[in-house]
Amino acid sequence: MSTTTFTPEALVERLFTLATFTAPGPGVTRLVYDDAWCAAHAWLRDEAASLGLAATCDAIGNLWLHDPALAPGAEVIAVGSHLDSVVNGGRYDGAYGTIAALLLAAELRGDVAAFVTCEEEGSRFPAALTGVRGLLGDLVPSTIAHLADAHGTRWTDALASARARGCASAPAASGERVPRLFRAQRQLELHIEQGPVLEAHGESLGIVNRIAGYRRLRARLEGEARHAGTTPMDRRRDAFAAAAEIALAAEVLARDAGPPAVATAGFASAEPGLFNVVPGAATLGLEVRHTEAHALDALADALAERARAIAARRGVTLALELQSGEAPTPLSDARAAGAGDLARSLGIPHRVMASGAGHDTMAFAQAGAESLMLFVPSRGGISHSPDEHTSPREMWIGVAFARELLARWAAERA
Ligand code: HGY
Ligand code: MN
Ligand code: MN
Repeated sequence: MSTTTFTPEALVERLFTLATFTAPGPGVTRLVYDDAWCAAHAWLRDEAASLGLAATCDAIGNLWLHDPALAPGAEVIAVGSHLDSVVNGGRYDGAYGTIAALLLAAELRGDVAAFVTCEEEGSRFPAALTGVRGLLGDLVPSTIAHLADAHGTRWTDALASARARGCASAPAASGERVPRLFRAQRQLELHIEQGPVLEAHGESLGIVNRIAGYRRLRARLEGEARHAGTTPMDRRRDAFAAAAEIALAAEVLARDAGPPAVATAGFASAEPGLFNVVPGAATLGLEVRHTEAHALDALADALAERARAIAARRGVTLALELQSGEAPTPLSDARAAGAGDLARSLGIPHRVMASGAGHDTMAFAQAGAESLMLFVPSRGGISHSPDEHTSPREMWIGVAFARELLARWAAERA
């Protein structure tokens, strides 16, 4: 029996309210432990209470929204997503799965608990998926305490300020892992596709059975700063020109490897960064992704080799640092097959597909939970942009389907 809160309007209204918790600027910028994140965290706790759910924080600010009668450590069907965003991102990435989980936990409170991870994107501190690793009891906070954001604020200090605002429980004991509050027997994440496939095929639902892995590399190049006007072209050791050639080499390697290989040079800087100085140093952010482990290894190795050859030819030194990475992660084929059967029986146009984007679900699957993701279409395949959009009707198809699927998962537990 649906309650008055389990409606498309309840979903959309809350999603748009969540989007108001952002730093100034285009789109949504809600970085872990910042003011917008803390305000969103408090608002979610209030929303849970208004639906008769308890809101329990863990030691790093992850949230569980659950039946108050649920005993600590209980085994649950975990449904949720992440609270943080990229910079100038959209209203739906993470937020859709978070609000959907809130409504589903209220609807199926005996079996389903909603999780809201504090951080997934790696947008503020140089580490991604720290929230879900904490939620699963796989994170020792002291191992990332030193990480600093672009302003020099350390992770541990940002967490302490969020804790002072009621957005995290007491710190984990020094050197200890974040205590796990509930155990996820099965796990589901609803998410926008963030790509063009469902829209291109006129399908409403993506049943995700595997998630691409990625490697994020920080390249540091050192050449020679020289006068831009008097230094002949054949006498230069231009660090940024080398970085630019490496960025284009990454693009060529991914194109030659063919889909689903992708490579991105997401940021670059030239030093000292003046019109009239040949850059003596440069920094370049590189990322490669693939759904198959051997192909990801091959792509990363080929990129490193090309980068070294380019630097050597240009007389520039190169330091390549692996900043973060995740292995390509299979999800539950059994759960995907069951979801496909249900979608067919309900006449919902769907496909079983891979995710090119990384998600919290990777960590659940790697930790042994039976995991699945459901995608709804992204207009134009656009995401990580203020132009991100999914219609209320498309969002609701995902939530209503998830309710049917979770009711079947819950019945299996009985
Ligand atoms: O980068 C990703 O794939 C995800 O949006 N964090
Ligand atoms: Mn994202
Ligand atoms: Mn996301």
